Amino acid sequence: MIRKIVYGTPFDTQAVVGSVEESGEPMAYGAVCLEDGFCYTCTLAEEDVVYGLGEANRGINKRGYCYVSDCTDIPEHTEDRRSLYAAHNFILVSGERSFGLFFDYPAKMIFDIGYTHMDTLSVSCEEANLTLYVIEGEDARHIAKQFRKLIGRSYIPPKFAFGYGQSRWGYCTKEDFRKVAKGYRNNQIPLDMIYMDIDYMQDYKDFTLNEENFQEFPQFVQEMKEENLRLIPIIDAGVKVEKGYEVYEEGVKNRYFCQREDGSDFVAAVWPGDTHFPDVLNPEARKWFGDHYQFLTDQGIEGFWNDMNEPAIFYTPEGVEAIKEKVQAFLKDTQGQVSIFEMRDAVLGLANNPRDYQSFYHQVDGKRIRHDQVHNLYGYYMTRAAGEAFERIDPDKRFLMFSRSSYIGMHRYGGVWTGDNKSWWSHLLLNLKMLPSLNMCGFLYTGADLGGFGADATRDLLLRWLALGVFTPLMRNHSAAGTRDQECYRFEDVEDFRHIIGVRYRLIPYLYSEYMKAALGDDLYFKPLAFEYPKDPHARQVEDQLMLGGEIMIAPVYTQNARGRYVYLPQEMKLVKFLPDGSLYEEILPQGHRYVEIALNEVALFIRQGKCIPLAREAQYVEAIDTTHMTMIGYAGSSYILYEDDGIHKDYEDPANYRELKF
Ligand code: GLC
Repeated sequence: MIRKIVYGTPFDTQAVVGSVEESGEPMAYGAVCLEDGFCYTCTLAEEDVVYGLGEANRGINKRGYCYVSDCTDIPEHTEDRRSLYAAHNFILVSGERSFGLFFDYPAKMIFDIGYTHMDTLSVSCEEANLTLYVIEGEDARHIAKQFRKLIGRSYIPPKFAFGYGQSRWGYCTKEDFRKVAKGYRNNQIPLDMIYMDIDYMQDYKDFTLNEENFQEFPQFVQEMKEENLRLIPIIDAGVKVEKGYEVYEEGVKNRYFCQREDGSDFVAAVWPGDTHFPDVLNPEARKWFGDHYQFLTDQGIEGFWNDMNEPAIFYTPEGVEAIKEKVQAFLKDTQGQVSIFEMRDAVLGLANNPRDYQSFYHQVDGKRIRHDQVHNLYGYYMTRAAGEAFERIDPDKRFLMFSRSSYIGMHRYGGVWTGDNKSWWSHLLLNLKMLPSLNMCGFLYTGADLGGFGADATRDLLLRWLALGVFTPLMRNHSAAGTRDQECYRFEDVEDFRHIIGVRYRLIPYLYSEYMKAALGDDLYFKPLAFEYPKDPHARQVEDQLMLGGEIMIAPVYTQNARGRYVYLPQEMKLVKFLPDGSLYEEILPQGHRYVEIALNEVALFIRQGKCIPLAREAQYVEAIDTTHMTMIGYAGSSYILYEDDGIHKDYEDPANYRELKF
């Protein structure tokens, strides 16, 4: 049962696709106060768990902190961060009574989940213009499913996107890409994608190619395809201001860019220097921007990643102007009169400054809307631009697409990666904790930068992180320019990397099948344990293990120098370890707590009692996986329903896509 309560005159975000009648009844769970903006409050019982918020900091259980939905380009995901790149305003209170709440509101929103008062949940925003959906159901999982149905089917990528991908900021030439291809192929480490970061463009201009380094690009794309590799270029939100550059000229001429109050095109500096932001909220401008992806699809490209779409602002001319005086005073000051801290904050405050977000406008249905009132929609609508364009370019074909910034609704057009993390052990665990919350909010195709984006990765961190990445739909190793080289073949004993990534390819038939079942059934691919074992008080507390699909549980190692970890088994399960020599170690473990040894070069999973999963032979790329010769692992006598399709087209409903595999 879903109730819709409308406050004021909300902006139509198009997060929801299902039609729900507006309810006249008052809020049943908690109270709403409209005296000073909007504020919802409710009392939390001691045993209540609060799930949700998608891509957010801290735990699976979000209790005990304050989170702010305010999409921000923030590479420092320290424990005290309240906002990350996304805004996913769905929460689920699970306890004696369980209910879900979706606050469909595209500006800044505060989720105080037992922060000010440990027993109080409060959600507030400045303007009382929003739609609140209250979702009831039998249990947490059922509520999440109802919500997912409301927001529409999750994005489905092509099957190759379940392969492993290598990325790094700094690949500049064809030779750089060939080196990566060779590094993997020569070492027989499976690989399907190499990502192209901003250096492939000419002066960081969207929909261009570096003239010197990427001549005859279609041939190069083809050369990589012959190696069974796909190139996946990045697209940034800001369009470089440069006379004569086609995209810029078209946007200016047609008034497709976001404008200042005086009607001039708003300028923000990002990678290319000064840029304009395409007004992707304006349907005409959105179509125009989306159509430009064809520049690359025409050359053989089949996937993209959308970046800097919070939208990130390094600085604006107005911002620089405003601190000029301060800087000059500081430079003249020899007496310590101008505080260095104030100075530093002023300079750092140039980036992503709230003042700048208040100074430009969108055109929606003939109305002018100030950006800060719809800020959290920008990444969503940029990705929607691409998704709608792909439908025009080739309606039968699936394209790979994921974005950095997002809002609920975007999950229908693409996946997300979780942005600039660090090569920190704590971020491996944070990656795990975000996964079920992201799924609840519709984002099934997700993953983090494996090995960490910023800072130097160590060999053991990368191995352990890959052993989690084996299970995430998006499995990509990405790192920042200037950090330690992070491609697998750069480390000693490459056979360990070959083995771990090899396990991924053996599992792809199962992982893909479970992904598709989750997408088609509005279900979760990753679940907190309590979603499967709602009556089990221990399961409710587990923050470092996940249920995956209908058959398995994962419990990755996330601490340095550990040779294993404690695992909680909510029921009897079969532990399966993929050993480096290619063999399997299997042991039935009873319900309860248990220390499980997992070496650095092993992958472990737990199969639920009475279930089994298929296992393919290793392959170097997705298309080479042989699903006609698979073995079954788990409990003998059981069977598994495998979903399989061609991985390219969209014939999801064909009953022939399902077949029963018996063990
Ligand atoms: C941003 C992205 C990162 C990318 C970099 C350069 O920081 O999050 O993934 O490598 O920009 O494009």
